[in-house]
Amino acid sequence: MLRPSLALTLGIAALASAKQAPLPFSQPEALLTYPSDILPAAASKELLYLHRHLVEIESITENELEVGKWLASYLESKNFTVEMQEVSPKRFNILAYWGKTSKTPVLVSSHIDTVPPFWPYKYNHTSGIISGRGSVDAKGSVAAQIIALLSLQEDLPHSAVSLLFVVGEETGGDGMRYFSTNAPHSYDAVIFGEPTEGKLVCGHKGMLAFTVKVQGKAAHSGYPWLGVSANDVLAEALDNIIKLRQHLPWSEKYGNTTINIGRVEGGVAANVVAETAKAQFAVRLAAGTPTVIKGMIVGALQGVKSRVEGLGGGLEIEWGSEGYPPVDINCDVKGFDKITVNYGTDIPNLEGIHKRYLYGPGSIFVAHSDHEALKVEELETAVIDYKKLILAALEKQKRM
Ligand SMILES: *[C@@H]1O[C@H](CO)[C@@H](O)[C@H](O)[C@H]1NC(C)=O
Ligand SMILES: *[C@@H]1O[C@H](CO)[C@@H](O)[C@H](O)[C@H]1NC(C)=O
Ligand SMILES: *[C@@H]1O[C@H](CO)[C@@H](O)[C@H](O)[C@H]1NC(C)=O
Ligand SMILES: [Zn+2]
Repeated sequence: MLRPSLALTLGIAALASAKQAPLPFSQPEALLTYPSDILPAAASKELLYLHRHLVEIESITENELEVGKWLASYLESKNFTVEMQEVSPKRFNILAYWGKTSKTPVLVSSHIDTVPPFWPYKYNHTSGIISGRGSVDAKGSVAAQIIALLSLQEDLPHSAVSLLFVVGEETGGDGMRYFSTNAPHSYDAVIFGEPTEGKLVCGHKGMLAFTVKVQGKAAHSGYPWLGVSANDVLAEALDNIIKLRQHLPWSEKYGNTTINIGRVEGGVAANVVAETAKAQFAVRLAAGTPTVIKGMIVGALQGVKSRVEGLGGGLEIEWGSEGYPPVDINCDVKGFDKITVNYGTDIPNLEGIHKRYLYGPGSIFVAHSDHEALKVEELETAVIDYKKLILAALEKQKRM
């Protein structure tokens, strides 16, 4: 359930201390703005301040508490009503809105968790490049979304837009799924923030993860006929999956469905016939449904499975989660470049028939890397673009 307020959830003392005792930031005075005429100076300064504080607080998935507390107190200082929604112990989604109602037609959302490892915030004033873990994915989106909404404050009714920043996006979306189950109401439009290079995304591929586990029988490597090599069986299974690739469904919009063999492990030593082996796969669906793809994978592995079972071993497929088909996203707003992307987002985790938009500063190609970085101009442009998207989403909703 939604918590009535931050103060009730964490205790008044926690809230007060978050407000009064600033965290020990590494460069407290370094808030210079990079010269640019995209935003007014005050908005640019506020944007860089907010972005920097978010990036400086480590928030690898499962450890989102501190950044959430800081963000909640920041939003309260801007007169938002803030609710912290407990997803699991010490893990909170942040929902913020003006006034009394969270039942707004438009929701603006991104995530506050990051992938590991932590990289510190750095701002090169000469190049105007900001680096650090989360600087792109997705704290660039979070900061730009908030500044966009703040700069629309005068122009919009209080009950028009709310903000949602979730935990757990990087590891399967438990934050958004929890929110979806407990959402205040159904929205007309939801704007999601992920790195899209400042383009509006018209859709992303679907996702299905699975693991193949092989059970063999150990033996001395000099007498392999006394055992069943799980590694041999897995190698055959891998070969079948590789051959399956060219038969997977494809579409004009998303290209080919791909299967990545992400991890392979098996056996214990060179001179022992491997007793167990397993491999982990991620499928990115360009067409079809997870059910169709599952059927194709089961079919591709059926022969290997029967053979190893005949030898007294086994082969099992474990499905990671339900998976989802390609996700079509609205991109009917003028003035944006448009793309499709191959990565997953929280979009399918929020149920409902709302319009959905996906946009954010920075590139996915650096997002999970050790050189995650973006330009100040990209951040500032994102503020302008989020304003356009919010207004477009509200405008369309009025006409409905
Ligand atoms: C918040 O509201 C108070 C009281 O209405 C007002 O004095 C203050 O300027 C507002 N702060 C911001 C950042 O809008
Ligand atoms: C900052 O950027 C400038 C210009 O690209 C570059 O020459 C310089 O080495 C950078 N400084 C640091 C500390 O990376
Ligand atoms: C899709 O796969 C086919 C072969 O299976 C290949 O010729 C084609 O270039 C691929 N398309 C894309 C967009 O990668
Ligand atoms: Zn992300």
